[in-house]
Amino acid sequence: MSRYRIEGGYKLQGDVSISGSKNAVLGILAAAMMLDGPCKIENVPDIVDVQVMLEICETIGAKITPAGEGIYEIDPTNINTFEATHPKVKNIRASYYLLGALLTRFRKATMYMPGGCNFGTRPIDLHLKGFRKMGASGTRATDIRDGIIRIVADELVGAHIFLDVVSVGATINIMLAATKANGMTIIENAAKEPHIVDVANFLNSMGANIKGAGTDTIRIKGVPVLPGGYSYSVIPDQIEAGTYMIAAAVTRGDVTIHNLIPKHMEPLTVKMLDMGYNIEQGDDWIRVSIDDDMELESTNFKTRPYPGFPTDLQPQATVLLCLANGMSRMHENVWDNRFQYVPELQSMGASISIIDRCALVNGPCSFSGASVTALDLRAGAAMVLAGLAASGVTTISSANRIDRGYEKIVEKLRGIGAHIERIAGDDEHVVPIDDE
Ligand code: EPZ
Repeated sequence: MSRYRIEGGYKLQGDVSISGSKNAVLGILAAAMMLDGPCKIENVPDIVDVQVMLEICETIGAKITPAGEGIYEIDPTNINTFEATHPKVKNIRASYYLLGALLTRFRKATMYMPGGCNFGTRPIDLHLKGFRKMGASGTRATDIRDGIIRIVADELVGAHIFLDVVSVGATINIMLAATKANGMTIIENAAKEPHIVDVANFLNSMGANIKGAGTDTIRIKGVPVLPGGYSYSVIPDQIEAGTYMIAAAVTRGDVTIHNLIPKHMEPLTVKMLDMGYNIEQGDDWIRVSIDDDMELESTNFKTRPYPGFPTDLQPQATVLLCLANGMSRMHENVWDNRFQYVPELQSMGASISIIDRCALVNGPCSFSGASVTALDLRAGAAMVLAGLAASGVTTISSANRIDRGYEKIVEKLRGIGAHIERIAGDDEHVVPIDDE
């Protein structure tokens, strides 16, 4: 377990490079479990959630061989069980993708309910409903006993599936199950996040027939075999990129963020321009800076499924709003309860009140260092950002939660001038890795 110690108040300057997308690679690793041959995956971020997912994949029989920095050769041909019941399945949310993958491979899948969370209820009813429409049983809430899901299908058949809530996880899971089903599956009201497109691109490059990923209608024509045999490079992480854009912004620094896809950053870029930041961009980079005398304007954010403003940048963007003049609003429309970090920010000087799913942020505030806790991955990232902007020293406990989704965050931030260090050892508020 570790804590971060940040001495705030230093402008970040220089260049930083973004790693592969967490939420794409987790889906891709599960998809690799369905292949009929080996494949190579590149640009895999070295983060805790990926390490856990790789370990789970090994426990079901996949052979995973590191083949260079961020590169893994994956051979799923000896997968010998449809049971993903390693205790770590409960540690990460994305283990739920093994349901779709194992169902495809064995026509049955047994798995623990995926990890809990602390930003609202996280049902998987839409995943199960999709499998049910494709012919699987064991997919009703009442079928889940002792926290274990047991799904069986004599045959998986293509189906017309309408998602009544836009869900990233359900879209990917149904896409996985449909890839080798008999006939055509159509997912309507599908999620459009970049990681959905990336999982579909990975599968297509390995022999699948998926069209329309990135739109709200995805058509998957089942194929009998997924030969694999190719290398695939994971897209850059949209949320990590946004976090570094905000890190530059909250310190009034001048940072160029490389290896990102500027199009994915538009929901953040437009707001930062409104607030008064300078944004320059090229094919795969964005530079964030601000004029010396520029006062930040308040603005409003509403989180929405892609291409809306991502909920996974909501806590980080709230830190930015704390520094703007006047009243800003942050509306959270995806999760029921993703403002738990607000008291931590208040302890650093933020003036925020919550009404239903809206945070009213009264700025500008002067953050001052405090001892705070990373309550979840992105809440933890928000604490880092507030610590960078604060006067004095901030310590963040349960920093292991931040390591779940940010590769080498301490090293990367130090590389652009942050005074941050990782303190190993006793952590008063140690919380197990049990959420996502
Ligand atoms: C994914 O979670 C991400 N996780 C989350 O990233 C992210 O916050 C979320 O999508 C939204 O973008 C991964 O990709 C591994 P959803 P997921 O299904 O798939 C409701 C991060 O910080 N819903 O899109 O679990 C649900 O309650 C994280 O990296 C149902 O009602 O999210 C929520 O309100 C944490 N029934 C909404 O849909 C279902 O069966 C969106 O959830 C499924 C979801």
